[in-house]
Amino acid sequence: MIEAARAARSHAHAPYSRYAVGAAVLTQSGRVYAGCNVENATYGATLCAERSAVAAMVAAGDHTPIACAVVTAGPEPGAPCGICRQVLVEFARDMKVILLAESSGGAIVAKKTTRLAKLLPSAFRLSVSR
Ligand code: THU
Repeated sequence: MIEAARAARSHAHAPYSRYAVGAAVLTQSGRVYAGCNVENATYGATLCAERSAVAAMVAAGDHTPIACAVVTAGPEPGAPCGICRQVLVEFARDMKVILLAESSGGAIVAKKTTRLAKLLPSAFRLSVSR
């Protein structure tokens, strides 16, 4: 999962912020789906790496993430934005979240492990069965 996130980060389209992000989700089935940030000249149409990975998972017919890795530039790892937290919560109340920072040379320079339920307590969920 971490290697997939790092590989996806190398494909990030981030000409405006120059802040490349790679993400990957691991599902119960053992499959890994990766994504990167895809920026847009309008800025507002920018897609984050985490949501891009979730879209790849859903497009493949998988809906059961158990962990997510996010790779950013260092020195400290970036944390998923609020919208991405909510999008991850759509598919699992909680999951392991691994945040990594990569140096410009490609070495992992920092790593933090946390949980989605900690990053987004009291998350919104529609009380309907799906
Ligand atoms: N970004 C992500 O890919 N994931 C996040 O959770 C936060 C921000 C991207 C969006 C934009 O392309 C760049 O990082 C700077 O905000």
